[in-house]
Order: sequence, then C-alpha cells, then structure tokens
Amino acid sequence: MVEPLNRGAIESLQSPLARVVEVHGALGSTQERARELAHAGTPHGTLVLAEVQTGGRGRLGRSWGSPKGGLWLSLVLRPWFGANLASRITQTAAVGVAKVLWEIGVEVLIKWPNDLLAGGKKICGILAESSAGNAKEPVEERRLDYVILGVGMNANLDPTELGVQNREVTTIRSELGRDVDPLELLRALLSNIDAELDRIEDFRAILEDWRRLNCTLGERVRVRRFDDTIEGRAVDLSPEGALVLSTRAGTVELFEGEIEHLRHGGEIL
Ligand code: BTN
Repeated sequence: MVEPLNRGAIESLQSPLARVVEVHGALGSTQERARELAHAGTPHGTLVLAEVQTGGRGRLGRSWGSPKGGLWLSLVLRPWFGANLASRITQTAAVGVAKVLWEIGVEVLIKWPNDLLAGGKKICGILAESSAGNAKEPVEERRLDYVILGVGMNANLDPTELGVQNREVTTIRSELGRDVDPLELLRALLSNIDAELDRIEDFRAILEDWRRLNCTLGERVRVRRFDDTIEGRAVDLSPEGALVLSTRAGTVELFEGEIEHLRHGGEIL
C-alpha cells in the first residue's frame, strides 16, 4: 500500500526546495497556485503539490491530465543568478529529473526541450516559467524575480488513466511493473533538482550530461514555433541550451518550439 504524501512527511525531508510546503487534495493547477504565492512574496523553496489537478497545464497552452497517482508539483525558486541564465533552467531540471528516473530503474531519454521519454513515450513533463525584473534593463543586468518550475511525473497510475488519446504516454508503474514510494520519489527529485541548479552557472557540465541523456541530437526534426515550421537535423545544443539545427537555409538556433522527430523519413535533407 503506497502512502499518500502529506505536509509533515515532506517537511521531514528538510530539503532546501521544500522550506514552505502546501499539499492539496484537488487543485486547478499547482503552477497557478505557486505563482500566486510567488506574487505574495513566498521564499525560495516553496513547494506546491496536488493529488489531483483539475486544470493542469502543459507547454504551449496544452492541458495536462493529472489524475490521482501522479506526482504533480510546482516549485517557487528565487534565483541568485540573472535573467540571462533563465533559458538554462529547463535543461538543468530535465537533467536532474532524468537522473532520478535512471536511479529507480527507468531508462529515460530527454527529448528537447523538456520531455522525458521511456521507450519513446512521455513519462514526465517540465514547465519552467520565469518572471524577470525591469524589462528596460539589459538582460545581463536584469534580475529574475522568481521561476515557477513545474514537474508532472506519471508515477503510480496506468497510462490509460491519463486521458490521452494517442497512447504516446507511459508511467513509472507501467515501466517498472510496480509502484514507487512517492515520498522517496519526491526526496530524490528535490535533491537532484537542487544539485543541478547549484551548478547552473557552470552550464558546460550540465550540457555534457544533457547530451549523454538526450534522444534529439542526430535526429531529423520538424519544429513548429509561432506560425513557422522549420525542418533540419538537430546537431547540437548551443552554450546557452538552444537547439542548433542544420537546415537547407543554414544553421538555426531555437530556444522554444514543438518538436517532432522524423525517424521514418522526413521529406527534407
Ligand atoms: C509539458 O510537458 O508540456 C509540461 C507539463 C508540466 C505539467 C506540470 S504538472 C505540475 C505543474 N502544474 C501544472 O499545471 N503544470 C505543471
């Protein structure tokens, strides 16, 4: 029998990322609640967790199915580094979360920018949303007021419970054939994310791990962003974490977008 998470147990982890803890039964979105708390001045290391989200959000305005059994959480971070490093946060968190999954025996790969896939199916999504200080200041000098780092981990549930049509999702239960202790999973997540964030200024080390753990580099890909679609070969990550694409029109660097791997022969290249 897996014990549900409660505030006391989480506080006993004594994680610097869980100094203030809110645990909800059902909540619209932990991301929105964390943002409210951030606006109200909550400190670095505030953790909002919900057993069920009724309005979970993914990237690009998508909804995120969040029934019982998953680990749905958002962290409020008050970064010590400037807004010029904000673009590094997604990859930094992805490396931390990927390492947790490998530690418990799930062989995941990172699909740029922020999906964790097991056997090609999504098992976890990461959503980093930043609020920077005075937009009139040059980005190198601008402070980050806060970052809301959301993690949606398909943990102790069956893929069919996620309400996704295309069966492109998996769960820890389905990969391991057993459930995991949510408190242990949370402990490992907080500890790894904290350790990776601690070395964000030395981004080369994180990028090295990212390259080792990813399944995007070397692939032919199609990236949709805004009204634009770009096809090419994913050749590297830039020193700041942008995806470097080699296209017919030359080299392009992308920080954002919806990516599709064209394994079965894209028309281009
Ligand atoms: C994605 O892959 O599109 C990102 C998904 C992020 C989902 C998590 S679940 C906890 C937090 N609350 C939300 O509403 N979204 C994030």
